Amino acid sequence: NTIIKEIDSTNIDVEAIELYAGMIKDGKTVIFPTETVYGLGANALDESAAMNIYSAKGRPSDNPLIVHICDMNGLEEIASGISDKARLIIDNFWPGPITLIFSKKSCVPYATTGGLETVAVRMPSHPVARELIRLSGVPIAAPSANISGKPSPTRQEHIICDMDGRVDGIILGGACDVGLESTVIDIRGEVPVVLRPGGITTEQLEDLVGRVDIDPALEMPDENITPMSPGMKYKHYSPDAQVYVVSGEKDALAEKINGLCIKNRDEGLKTGVICMKEDIPAYRGCEILSLGISMEDAANNLFDALIEMDKRKVDIVYAQSFEETGIGKAIMNRLLKSAGYRIINA
Ligand code: TXA
Ligand code: MG
Repeated sequence: NTIIKEIDSTNIDVEAIELYAGMIKDGKTVIFPTETVYGLGANALDESAAMNIYSAKGRPSDNPLIVHICDMNGLEEIASGISDKARLIIDNFWPGPITLIFSKKSCVPYATTGGLETVAVRMPSHPVARELIRLSGVPIAAPSANISGKPSPTRQEHIICDMDGRVDGIILGGACDVGLESTVIDIRGEVPVVLRPGGITTEQLEDLVGRVDIDPALEMPDENITPMSPGMKYKHYSPDAQVYVVSGEKDALAEKINGLCIKNRDEGLKTGVICMKEDIPAYRGCEILSLGISMEDAANNLFDALIEMDKRKVDIVYAQSFEETGIGKAIMNRLLKSAGYRIINA
């Protein structure tokens, strides 16, 4: 039986967190809120605890986990070769939504790092996450708390729907702040390389450290736009509905999507549209979900919108595309993956 409690992050019930910290010490799995998305955590230094994470998520065990710490001693314990550039990034963005790759120390089992010699480390800012790590007394390995392949959970309802019964404990802490996962950056070389765009933007990093490279594997595969993009090892962020990213001028976009809605309806398929609030009036005859008014809203609401489309039994989702600046880069990365890189140009 999963032990579920709500914990108010503005008025933390330390005794309740102690219960969950005890579970972590015992090698059990606990879902907890972070400022990015909910995490599915276990003791990062305990091989069998880490294995429990993979089975709860249904995740392939060669996909490495992020290790969460609450202070710099935690980093020294598990990582070696912490460069000046790494310290600069840490000083500016930790605690917060960025994960750094380091050489691992031998106390970190390969079960946690997916067999790699490196370890991904993040210090979250969410007060419940921090207190859980502190009281556990160990670093906590935690991937996003979704079933492997599905959108990441950013609301407590997402957790209750999917994970009750799959883990030992669940801490509910309301909606996540950022709503997309952390930026993952490899800082071991001369020039830092972004492996996953996320909560801290590339522009923010460039302002701080100068040149930053983007992992070429992030670029969308150009020619063969097939449902399952080649080179993408795992399916990601995919609701049951089939997602398409639609780009083009506003008017052309609405006309194209409205036309597709009619065609889908004739084929007995239910259509959903994910757009910005101001564009709601342009669409007809479909389920419409707004992402809000700003890019930050869109980041915060994207996964919830994808999950909601499944609840509404939508078959085909059209999502407006975003300019890839600032947080837009992370939004488009998640959207394109959820769409299997299917793009429609209006
Ligand atoms: O915001 C987040 O990062 C959330 C919260 C819970 O902290 N966690 C998260 O974990 O998104 P996950 O497992 O869903 O994504 C971890 C990403 C994966 O793309 C994984 O391949 C990469 O980080 N990663 C982990 N360790 C790595 C390593 N040693 N080298 C390269 N990539 C690594
Ligand atoms: Mg994930």
